Amino acid sequence: MRVTGTIDEIRQWTAQARAAGKRIGLVPTMGALHVGHISLIEAAAAQCDFVVVSLFVNPAQFGPGEDFGNYPRPFERDLAICGQHGVDVVFTPDPLEMYPRENLTWVHVEGITKNLCGRSRPGHFRGVTTVCTKLFNIVWPDAAFFGQKDAQQAIVIRRMVADLNMPLEIVVCPTVREGDGLAVSSRNQYLSEQQRSEAPVVYEALQEGRRMIESGATDPGQVRARIEAVIGRVPAMQIEYVSLVDPETLENVERIAGTVLIAVAVRFGLARLIDNVMVDSGRP
Ligand code: PAJ
Repeated sequence: MRVTGTIDEIRQWTAQARAAGKRIGLVPTMGALHVGHISLIEAAAAQCDFVVVSLFVNPAQFGPGEDFGNYPRPFERDLAICGQHGVDVVFTPDPLEMYPRENLTWVHVEGITKNLCGRSRPGHFRGVTTVCTKLFNIVWPDAAFFGQKDAQQAIVIRRMVADLNMPLEIVVCPTVREGDGLAVSSRNQYLSEQQRSEAPVVYEALQEGRRMIESGATDPGQVRARIEAVIGRVPAMQIEYVSLVDPETLENVERIAGTVLIAVAVRFGLARLIDNVMVDSGRP
């Protein structure tokens, strides 16, 4: 496995792989790798001949007062994980390599970035779509791998790639969970032991929402209220949003039909936790 922090070198290496006819898979990450990231690396290794993992805590997607400075950066451990999972190249630029001057050019997806996390994290998705565009332009992958855990991010990236005719495939992989249902996240390490034991209530609440819809509930307000009540069992958890949205437009649904995305964000101690489930109502 080779490791580089420079755009020149990663370009040379991916150009060689491309010239050798290899299908290139990119797994963009901010490091602090866990089993969720590993599932993306494994999917990339299964579907591609040459796997690139980027480790880059992207300053452009953090707002003022967010956890950019504290975000975990266990660099050696991340490299070891990549080495154990068949990664060919790790791209680990520092912020000045990616943003050597004031950035004046941004990629901004409208509409679907307004709701959910876009509401509570203004500018976040602009940072994500811009850095992903840069990574796609640097690596030229045939496919890039994202997690359903960040449902809105995956939908926004897919839309950007479609709208701008970017020549790559976006593969979205299922959310990897702990044994008790909590979605695996780099930010779970901000939780105390007590908070960690209470955190699975988010997924329990989502499952409750799923059950209601599968048994015929059509009123999103009713489902939302039930989800909020389940999360309310942990009083220290502050709900940022509980939303039932159309999985394409990300607009709140007025009546439950077809497939709905139920997405939740809570603040809990020092952590902000997000999770979601996609539910097929079985009704047109
Ligand atoms: P990061 O939070 O490191 O996540 C990298 C990828 O791993 C994302 O596609 C995310 O959805 C996926 N992922 C995280 N937890 C997962 C889980 N439990 N199961 C499945 N996949 C999971 O998301 C980002 O970084 C950044 O915004 C990035 C796309 C790298 C741009 O900077």
